Amino acid sequence: MNYYYITGTSRGIGKAFSEQLLEDPSNNVIGLSRQNTIEHGNYRHFYLDLTDVKAIADFKFELHANAKKIYLINNAGDLGFIKPIGKHSADTIIRNYTLNLISPSVLTNSFIDCYNTTEAEKVIINISSGAGKNPIDGWASYCASKAGIDMFSRVVDAEQKIKIEHAKESIHQGFKIFSIAPGVVNTKMQTDIRSANKENFSRLEDFIGYQSNNQLAEPDAVAMKYINLFSNLNNIKDVVSSIKDYE
Ligand SMILES: NC(=O)c1ccc[n+]([C@@H]2O[C@H](COP(=O)([O-])OP(=O)(O)OC[C@H]3O[C@@H](n4cnc5c(N)ncnc54)[C@H](OP(=O)(O)O)[C@@H]3O)[C@@H](O)[C@H]2O)c1
Repeated sequence: MNYYYITGTSRGIGKAFSEQLLEDPSNNVIGLSRQNTIEHGNYRHFYLDLTDVKAIADFKFELHANAKKIYLINNAGDLGFIKPIGKHSADTIIRNYTLNLISPSVLTNSFIDCYNTTEAEKVIINISSGAGKNPIDGWASYCASKAGIDMFSRVVDAEQKIKIEHAKESIHQGFKIFSIAPGVVNTKMQTDIRSANKENFSRLEDFIGYQSNNQLAEPDAVAMKYINLFSNLNNIKDVVSSIKDYE
């Protein structure tokens, strides 16, 4: 059996991932988000608010003795309020980093610790963003979080490959990690961007144009591209990449 822990399964890309993976009866999906919109025999939902640091720290992965593959897909994310730095409350900045950077980092740490001695294909996929490479005004903590998750992934990848001589404790290796941006996708996140206040966001017209010019990819199509990549991980070009690199 294969086990996919996916954050943010209630809508958008995470829901599309889940529904497509569940078409294969050997796949089990464990969804982590606040709402549940999926009913399926191989789906289990855990209520988890990924802005709640204690709840994230307390989350326990389960041992799966019969697993062939175990994946963690850190997909949940949110832009938060779109406005320049100086206009936010401290709380919204803290919550945004917690959701977009701290939660995937803490879950990755727990995942690697839990499955260190499990014999299976063990993979972490972080859903990144072009916003982690290019500054976008009004999105500072989101851009910084996505840049952070890209670098976090690179460091974890380096740790998996490093050769440590005379290590006294067992080394946590045998995991693969990738940070892959999905491009612009027709989800609530894009609806939220288009409803931003023009005074707070110089790129508003660009994002309205992505929709009116049919430049938004559909979540099902994007999820399918990721799932195709999972079937041959050797095709993934680098730790940090974009789904557009495989078109
Ligand atoms: N759409 C795009 O154009 C685009 C572009 C680049 C990158 N991305 C990335 O793609 C990923 C998926 O985004 P999407 O476009 O599919 O967004 P979406 O449709 O808004 O879905 C976001 C998901 O994240 C979950 N989530 C949000 N806040 C949460 C919280 N506090 N606790 C737990 N779960 C939470 C939501 O579940 P609940 O509300 O039920 O908790 C929902 O399932 C994100 O990481 C995003 O940064 C998207």
